[in-house]
Amino acid sequence: MPPTSDWAVEAHGLVKVFGDNRAVDGVDLSVRTGTVYGVLGPNGAGKTTTIRMLATLLKPDGGEATVFGHDIRREAQVVRQLIGVTGQYASVDETLSATENLVLFSRLNGLSRADARRKSAELLEEFGLSEAAKRPLKNFSGGMRRRLDLAASLISQPPLIFLDEPTTGLDPRTRAQMWDTIRRLVATGSTVLLTTQYLDEADQLADRIAVIDRGVVVAEGTADELKSSVGSSSLLLKLADAANLERARLAILDVLGVESVLTPEAGRITAPMSDADSVTDLLLRLRQEGIAVAELSVQQPTLDEVFLALTGHAATDDDGDGDAPAAGTPERELEDAR
Ligand SMILES: Nc1ncnc2c1ncn2[C@@H]1O[C@H](COP(=O)(O)OP(=O)(O)O)[C@@H](O)[C@H]1O
Ligand SMILES: [Mg+2]
Repeated sequence: MPPTSDWAVEAHGLVKVFGDNRAVDGVDLSVRTGTVYGVLGPNGAGKTTTIRMLATLLKPDGGEATVFGHDIRREAQVVRQLIGVTGQYASVDETLSATENLVLFSRLNGLSRADARRKSAELLEEFGLSEAAKRPLKNFSGGMRRRLDLAASLISQPPLIFLDEPTTGLDPRTRAQMWDTIRRLVATGSTVLLTTQYLDEADQLADRIAVIDRGVVVAEGTADELKSSVGSSSLLLKLADAANLERARLAILDVLGVESVLTPEAGRITAPMSDADSVTDLLLRLRQEGIAVAELSVQQPTLDEVFLALTGHAATDDDGDGDAPAAGTPERELEDAR
């Protein structure tokens, strides 16, 4: 391996413009070989577009990037042999079984018939799909497809794997399985670049995280570094009377010294806290001011709070659970895909 292979990805000033939308607006990323790197951001932030450029599926309008030292434009063919991208392989044929799909895909990757069968059985076992192996793909649940998709991307054992929101919409159990699989991939020598809308996912998996918003990296660091930028815990208050939200916000600003996120309809307010103990002082103040609290909890900072702290605006327009519908249609035509 050349010395540059210390870095699985090095990107400088990547730009992608769609019409007058600067979807990716000067993104820098450095992913060390053998690590998990998380790109964290809300819908429409530019995560998929960034990954597609790095995976040579979309031509950048500006900037440069290398994969294990190979330029994504000038050496696209080499780059393609070093990467796996999920979301492209799983459904070779909907009417074929999971085994048949994997065998077919293995054969397309140049494995012998015997090797293809052995590899497919191994992967189905590893991904907990052995029992469903004979069923046609069209009967697979979303979570099963996602796992089969990840399995397919491993047939060629790529050194760098791009996972675009691998667990969005999955139930907690399947999500935990995906996390285990991702950890195992890295333990066996792969580098993973994943995108996510979930702070806890980045927290659990990623060695380093880039927070991306409106096409720009607004923060980069370890999960601990990001969280300490918004306080180590987060206070959630539900007021008995939503009319008191503004006064509660001012009390929080005064006592805790931080800005809070308001959800007017639900009468909810969340605020980052560097010190969970200071909640006592706040409660005393709220009582003095006659602001009744219906519910109170102290939790991990939410993605919304990280966003508010970093960007000055909320990550999502909805209730903040990160499941807002995509800004565009999910399956967009890539006119300039090569
Ligand atoms: N092929 C495309 N044509 C036009 N606009 C696009 C295309 N792909 C993405 N966009 C726009 O670029 C922005 C970033 O999208 P995307 O990279 O998919 O964000 P994310 O993956 O973070 O949700 C969005 O505003 C989206 O609507
Ligand atoms: Mg996306």
